Amino acid sequence: MSDLSPLRLDDGVRVLALTGAGVSAESGIPTFRDGNGLWESHRVEDVASPEGFARDPSLVWRFYSLRREAAASCAPNPGHRALAELEARLGERFLLATQNVDGLHRAAGNERLVEMHGNLFTTRCSGCDRPPFRDESLHFDAIPRCERCGAMLRPHIVWFGETLDPADLARIEDFIHESRGHRLVFLAAGTSGVVYPAAGLVEVCKRAGAETVLVNLEAPANVRAFDRVIEGRSGAVLPALFG
Ligand SMILES: NC(=O)c1ccc[n+]([C@@H]2O[C@H](COP(=O)([O-])OP(=O)(O)OC[C@H]3O[C@@H](n4cnc5c(N)ncnc54)[C@H](O)[C@@H]3O)[C@@H](O)[C@H]2O)c1
Ligand SMILES: [Zn+2]
Repeated sequence: MSDLSPLRLDDGVRVLALTGAGVSAESGIPTFRDGNGLWESHRVEDVASPEGFARDPSLVWRFYSLRREAAASCAPNPGHRALAELEARLGERFLLATQNVDGLHRAAGNERLVEMHGNLFTTRCSGCDRPPFRDESLHFDAIPRCERCGAMLRPHIVWFGETLDPADLARIEDFIHESRGHRLVFLAAGTSGVVYPAAGLVEVCKRAGAETVLVNLEAPANVRAFDRVIEGRSGAVLPALFG
């Protein structure tokens, strides 16, 4: 049984949290590797890569329409709410970097949030520089087109083979940099530790002197990098940890 004693959250502590698909599992959103039929019935490179989109954009839009539909019926769980309460308590001494695209952290109330892999309910144009926009629409038949330039619209998701937005990475790096001379806790939850650069953040934080804590159902690939590992469901562990 893992040690569930609360984190020491004294005055001045700064917390960088990193979440992955496991945090949304208890809301009913399947993780990447739990086959649920959605990821299982497709090859990742067909539905979540620029080459896949170039080959068959309507397949990609059907896939993301199913994901939009599924995520729209889900609500934040106690793990999301615990992170929102932590932000309310720490204010600018808190930052949440998430690999999730489901929007549940924002729905729970987190605003100091970096959605490193994009957002399921945001669309952008593949042709012009019009800014990405909120979009809940589903496209099972026709491929949506840009009203401004006529090019295909695409989900605002960082696909395999694409790079993260440098501004997002800079926000995370700045937070770590500003933590110099303060106590910094890096808290990862529900992430398998294999998708870079998110998986490398623990090492960056360690070099900056952070204490590193992991909450995950099972030991992930980069488990050795953590000072404290709590095996369990994030919906049960996170509320206890900040208690
Ligand atoms: N909810 C989402 O937005 C969503 C869902 C699936 C995939 N993705 C994308 O796929 C990639 C997958 O990488 P990843 O590391 O985020 O996910 P992953 O699926 O590779 O790993 C999830 C981890 O969470 C753990 N886990 C499962 N249920 C848990 C629970 N209740 N509490 C705590 N831990 C639990 C698993 O043991 C696993 O180690 C990411 O790039 C992400 O953008 C996002
Ligand atoms: Zn356009």
